[in-house]
Amino acid sequence: MTTIPSIDLVDALASEYADKSPSEILALALSQQGEISISFSGAEDVVLIDMASHLGKPFRVFSLDTGRLHAETYQFIEKVREHYKIDIEICFPESDAVQKLVTEKGLFSFYKDEHKECCGIRKVQPLRKKLATLDGWITGQRKDQSPGTRDDIPVVQADVGFSGPGKQLIKYNPLANWSSSDVWNYIRMMEIPYNSLHEKGYISIGCEPCTRPVLPNQHEREGRWWWEEATHKECGLHAGNLK
Ligand code: ADX
Ligand code: SF4
Repeated sequence: MTTIPSIDLVDALASEYADKSPSEILALALSQQGEISISFSGAEDVVLIDMASHLGKPFRVFSLDTGRLHAETYQFIEKVREHYKIDIEICFPESDAVQKLVTEKGLFSFYKDEHKECCGIRKVQPLRKKLATLDGWITGQRKDQSPGTRDDIPVVQADVGFSGPGKQLIKYNPLANWSSSDVWNYIRMMEIPYNSLHEKGYISIGCEPCTRPVLPNQHEREGRWWWEEATHKECGLHAGNLK
């Protein structure tokens, strides 16, 4: 076990690990003292769980259940739980906040008001609550996922947005330098389970009303919040990516 890196050390670690493999970055994260968990969206970030299972170190996984995921995603989360014989901590939004939103603005307010308010209630607030119990989190973010917002993500960073008073939260992005094809080569090579939506033309997967399949040569991010400006496509989980 190594101690939780101080803010000064995070940048040094980011340089040291910049060219290391996802598995090495994951091993670094899992060797950190304190509570750390993999944030699993129910999509191709399953590779993190597979890699962690091969490292032989204990690891935790959580998923944010917005209440609006596809049936296929719920089925996949369950499949992963059974396949790897792991617990997946499911985080729910505050029911009062969801009730207020849908009573006042309906079930599809995000098409009119943009997604920020709904994502704030269904994703960001539950994430904030979960992260308050952790010292670090591991995400499946990649540079190639979102032009304009994720081009520069480091493999390790201080998560300023979600750090609390007196507590420095560290965010690990082991897949930052992998491309979509690296991820899919891994999934095929290791024969690991994947979300069946990928067989229906979906690449990036979020909530059902806000995700659609993409056409040939469309970027994967074009299937998310397609009615909004491309450069603003962050839901708040990774708001630090917005400049
Ligand atoms: S999002 O911010 O646009 O929704 P994206 O779908 O690209 O994120 O996923 C990037 C990473 O964010 C995932 O690999 C995962 O680590 C985290 N993430 C996204 N959605 C969830 C979710 N519902 N539950 C847990 N983690 C998530
Ligand atoms: Fe709401 Fe859509 Fe955000 Fe899901 S992605 S939390 S449905 S706005």
